[in-house]
Amino acid sequence: MDKFAEMKKVRDEVVSFTESPLCQLRIKEGYLPVIGEGSHDAEIMFIGEAPGKNEAETGRPFCGASGRVLDELLLHINLDRKEVYVANILKDRPPLNRDPKPEEIEMYGPFLDRQIEIIKPKVVATLGRFSANYVMKRYGLDFEIEPISSMHGKKFQAEHFTVIPLFHPAVGVYDASRKDDLKKDFEILKEFVK
Ligand code: URA
Repeated sequence: MDKFAEMKKVRDEVVSFTESPLCQLRIKEGYLPVIGEGSHDAEIMFIGEAPGKNEAETGRPFCGASGRVLDELLLHINLDRKEVYVANILKDRPPLNRDPKPEEIEMYGPFLDRQIEIIKPKVVATLGRFSANYVMKRYGLDFEIEPISSMHGKKFQAEHFTVIPLFHPAVGVYDASRKDDLKKDFEILKEFVK
């Protein structure tokens, strides 16, 4: 199966993932699942937490206020969104944008694992503490887990890719003065940009 077909299979399974309460809510509210977007051959894969309202309305990851900050950070290192792949751990929106629950992360995590397996990125750049903790734990780096305030902007080597935990772009939405810190962290990705 080619990458496109494999990703479509992930999408189809998420669409009918009715054992998940968040999927049931999505159907009830008329929202869309948010699978991911970008190049299936991306060397850099960004992983956020969960779709917000804008994302669940459009089916696209990071298309609201946090997405605008993400675009600014990508521009800072001359990286086009089309060259990377952007996904979340959860594919369905938690109500009222609350934090993902551990059982939700457990339910949706295997979809993300398959996406990583399909794309085979050189770098997995996590956005926020939930995706950092998930990816580090899942890929054998649990002994390196620290608060995101300590891990951000550092490189960790997993078996098949480098993990770079980054702050969530929402940090720049709530406090614009933090954008310079976010930009500085993004500069670490430059060495992976062709
Ligand atoms: N926050 C996330 O973590 N992901 C999105 O797609 C949007 C906002």
